[in-house]
Amino acid sequence: MKLGYFLLAASVAALPFDRLHVLEVESGKTVMVRETEKWSLKRKGVNFMDLTKFPKLFGSGEVDPVVPLYDYPKETQNGDIITPLFKGIDTGLMHDNLAKFTSFYTRYYKSETGYQSALWLSEKLTNITSPLKDEFTIEHVDHVEWKQFSIIVSIKGSETPEHIVVMGSHQDSMNLLLPSILAAPGADDDGSGTVTNLEALRLYVGHLSTTGYRPKNTVEFHFYSAEEGGLLGSLDVFTKYAALEKKVVAMLQQDMTGYVKDPEDEHVGVITDYTTPGLTDFVKLIIQKYLDIPYVETQCGYACSDHGSATKNGFPASFVIESEFDKSNRYIHSTMDTLDRLSFDHMAQHVRLVVGSLFELGNWDFKLQEKKQTDK
Ligand SMILES: *[C@@H]1O[C@H](CO)[C@@H](O)[C@H](O)[C@H]1NC(C)=O
Ligand SMILES: [Zn+2]
Repeated sequence: MKLGYFLLAASVAALPFDRLHVLEVESGKTVMVRETEKWSLKRKGVNFMDLTKFPKLFGSGEVDPVVPLYDYPKETQNGDIITPLFKGIDTGLMHDNLAKFTSFYTRYYKSETGYQSALWLSEKLTNITSPLKDEFTIEHVDHVEWKQFSIIVSIKGSETPEHIVVMGSHQDSMNLLLPSILAAPGADDDGSGTVTNLEALRLYVGHLSTTGYRPKNTVEFHFYSAEEGGLLGSLDVFTKYAALEKKVVAMLQQDMTGYVKDPEDEHVGVITDYTTPGLTDFVKLIIQKYLDIPYVETQCGYACSDHGSATKNGFPASFVIESEFDKSNRYIHSTMDTLDRLSFDHMAQHVRLVVGSLFELGNWDFKLQEKKQTDK
């Protein structure tokens, strides 16, 4: 088995123009395909991580990576700060941001407009964090093989900066029919998650700059490039974090936060497969405590969004989507993923989730759980 993986890695490395890709479609199960076949797999609903660049990761694919077990809050402690902030959620602003973000012809990670949209997003982040520009850093992660960079916004923890809490979403969009030619407004996928995190960050900066409050742990917002290419941007980010031995203690992904199929049955979907159970329990607590709508447990398969890059590198992660997976937006990856199909009030519920998680985890004293093996 090990030799097989080695030969696979060696043959991929030997290809002159990298025309074959190694995709992990299930934990430990890889297939080799050409680029166009990646998109036909996606059209069939098969998700994957493109591990072509990361032979180390698919080399160890036979076993799931070890994700450390942290204790997460079992009850909320910061309602006094969090709940009053909800009045400030500005759905008009979110609408304007999404209108601008979807006006780029496509945010396909290899396209010029995908690069332009990243520049716009970066400028928006500079503006949002400007009241605390000496404390927030904005880093562009260049991916070398394609032009659209990922963006990391960070504020260092005041007591335990080594503990990093991450709120994630992806900035790229894609038309799965002809990615380089056809338009991809990507309003829900994942413009909605992007503006959800923008609004949460705006409220967060507002609170910090007016009260002097600072998180004990480092808090980061990640805007990944190339999720649609097989989690490429987030894989670059988290493999780098793992190599630097950074300690991400929680990652929460927002991917598709705006579509409500049945307004009589509005809810959010808590993803229970390939996520970290303890963290997911915490996320459920946040939903019960701070949202007006309930959650439904649901599954989306292997590598269905960027949280997969976190767990693949041994970091705990969770994912909350707009609804039960079967009831989520069917117009994505096409010209029909437009803003008029979305509910900004629903997105506002996701903003509550992010704001609630940020304050509760930003000040949480993270401790590793005692390992089972030592009990005997
Ligand atoms: C950022 O702020 C400047 C100055 O107010 C403004 O001109 C610019 O349009 C803003 N950029 C974005 C992306 O909102
Ligand atoms: Zn997508």
